[in-house]
Amino acid sequence: AFNLRNRNFLKLLDFTPREIQHMLELSAELKKAKYNGYEQPRLTGKNIALIFEKSSTRTRCAFEVAAFDQGAKVTYLGPSGSQIGHKESMKDTARVLGRMYDGIEYRGFGQEIVEELGAHAGVPVWNGLTDEFHPTQILADFLTMQEHGRGKQLHEMTFAYLGDARNNMGNSLMVGAAKMGMDIRLVAPKAFWPEEELVAQCREIAEETGAKITMTEDVQEGVQGCDFLYTDVWVSMGESKDAWDERVKMMTPYQINMDMIKATGNPHVKFMHCLPAFHNDETTVGAEVAEKYNMKGLEVTEDVFESKHSIVFDEAENRMHTIKAIMVATLGQ
Ligand code: CP
Ligand code: NVA
Repeated sequence: AFNLRNRNFLKLLDFTPREIQHMLELSAELKKAKYNGYEQPRLTGKNIALIFEKSSTRTRCAFEVAAFDQGAKVTYLGPSGSQIGHKESMKDTARVLGRMYDGIEYRGFGQEIVEELGAHAGVPVWNGLTDEFHPTQILADFLTMQEHGRGKQLHEMTFAYLGDARNNMGNSLMVGAAKMGMDIRLVAPKAFWPEEELVAQCREIAEETGAKITMTEDVQEGVQGCDFLYTDVWVSMGESKDAWDERVKMMTPYQINMDMIKATGNPHVKFMHCLPAFHNDETTVGAEVAEKYNMKGLEVTEDVFESKHSIVFDEAENRMHTIKAIMVATLGQ
């Protein structure tokens, strides 16, 4: 009934709720198969290009391990060293790589670039994060929510996304929640709510799926009764460092700390973050920023990050199982 063969995976807007559900089910199956030692390679003989115009730990490693588990081989192209982005257009790059590779992952800046790649490659193209969307992350998040949902289906779940709701994570979680009929609260300063046009699109989807989309600056209203609290960095890759001055001031009320955990009224509430996170690690850029503004943690505090509420490393692991499912569904035999 489901055939995702040869489809691109560029944004969740391109998929039906049933297709998304199918990819989540396949992810869970592949995870179980790997854990129990009966995984069957379905990408044998496939060559995969991994293009990263921004840094990555999880996404790159997830694509590589998933490909290796499934019998495929990969080439990594980093932010420098290829002709991409300075000497050759994306349209020409797409037609070259499409002649050599069976599938292409791309992480970069504008969504229109990965769309251009997808339009001209002639092989499946997977979005590994753009400024606007991070769709592979959402599959991992939803799989993780199902695993920690205490028996609830996605459409029975309520969650809040706090902080920069205008970035790739805010946008993609809103689309995902709309598609899967969830109750999502985007809790952020008004200037950081998602763009009107995308909100309107999601509200239309929500009418069909029964999703509930709330945008609010009121933290108490936003987090009350949530199953999950989700946040992301306040300044994303590709944004100016100067943005921190304005952001820290505006975003501080939206920091996930123990008071906010309590404010949910749910002792079982789980904390989620796509990572990397700025909490209290002395070795990160976040520590520098936190010190400069005299903050304890930034988007999340250390005690929440390390608490029993935190499921961030399950989430990180699930990047691999879900990315594997995307590749198998679009490229597998
Ligand atoms: N969450 C995520 O995409 O992490 P990386 O930037 O490490 O790939
Ligand atoms: N919003 C973050 C997500 C990182 C996975 C960024 O784009 O940097």
